[in-house]
Amino acid sequence: MSTARTPSPAPETPATTDPLSLIDVDHVRLHVGNAKQAALFYAHTFGFQVDQYQDLTTGSRDEASYLLKQGNIRLLLTTGLHKDSVAQQEVMRYGDGVKDIAVTVEDAVAAYEQAIRNGGESAYEPVERSDEHGSVVTAGISTYGRVVHSFVSRSGAYDLDQVKDGGAFAPGFAKTEGLSVNVYNRQNPCGLMYVDHCVGNVEEGKMNHWVEWYEQVLGFRMFKHFDDADISTEFSALMSKVMASGNNLIKMPINEPATGKRKSQILEYLEWHDMSPGVQHLALRTDDELTSVAALRSRGVDFLMIPDTYYQTVWDRVSAQGWEVREDHEKIRDLGILVDADDEGYLLQLFTKPLQDRPTLFFEIICRRGSQSFGKGNFKALFEALEIEQERRGNL
Ligand SMILES: [Fe+2]
Repeated sequence: MSTARTPSPAPETPATTDPLSLIDVDHVRLHVGNAKQAALFYAHTFGFQVDQYQDLTTGSRDEASYLLKQGNIRLLLTTGLHKDSVAQQEVMRYGDGVKDIAVTVEDAVAAYEQAIRNGGESAYEPVERSDEHGSVVTAGISTYGRVVHSFVSRSGAYDLDQVKDGGAFAPGFAKTEGLSVNVYNRQNPCGLMYVDHCVGNVEEGKMNHWVEWYEQVLGFRMFKHFDDADISTEFSALMSKVMASGNNLIKMPINEPATGKRKSQILEYLEWHDMSPGVQHLALRTDDELTSVAALRSRGVDFLMIPDTYYQTVWDRVSAQGWEVREDHEKIRDLGILVDADDEGYLLQLFTKPLQDRPTLFFEIICRRGSQSFGKGNFKALFEALEIEQERRGNL
């Protein structure tokens, strides 16, 4: 495996004159309580490079941010430096979490104006940051909860290809020097390549509202949907629809709680997130699930425990779909990895426990072998595992 530049999947249609045609996932910004410490957590546990930063020493007086890179994943960890800063206010309400799923476009102002014409609400007006090397223009629209989609257009030295090759992220960012974890991570890669999908939890009854919002404002279309008959255990359930960008560059599943005998994981999330919708998980794609999960486990990533009984039925379930899982079955069980299949192929996936003390944001590590779905067959096994954790937290 290599941490070298890894492209996202090629868009399925060529670039068009549509201002909302997405070029890439530019970055995902997290608001965190202490970005300096969080950067080291994500570097040590998930193998990210702490590549660049801006803070008081670089002249950033209101916020400190750290750019973490791995493959084509760019996480921007931001903390507010004053009690009144937006990042601090939101961390107080929600804990650490995703603030912005930012997309690269040809012209951020044109994309923003098109999204507003389509019925989107402005989160912030276009801002241009430039210096003698180039410029970065950003403009944001509000999606569910306090989450934002920024449109980002880049020129000169800040072109995304140059950022991928190690160039500066934006004016004002300084390169991190002499961090030993960066050296270790280059020698011991975890193989995470790009953001496969990004899941939002919204309130009961609001899923279809946000499905329509993605269709109308951003020109997304429905990719898959699941109802509570698909995703339920005896006690809890959810409903989910997967929205995809026009070129399938990013998929945004949207979950809402469904009625069960006990509290669903979506409701638990909302209750610990100030009853405000937000991002539940980011799925990070690898080409080698076993090696990635083994590396992450050895670094201390806390994954969900999969009941051993899961492996009594999984191979029959997958071969019933006509697929033979070519990875070592025993290692899959030892690493506690989930397997699912559909008519296009199979997938391997595993979910971390929450990444912070509140039971909110977590990561998924996913490897696709043809399957383009999201592990529907695992939902029941997964929910049973999740409920054990909810029980432990006293939230069931
Ligand atoms: Fe997922």
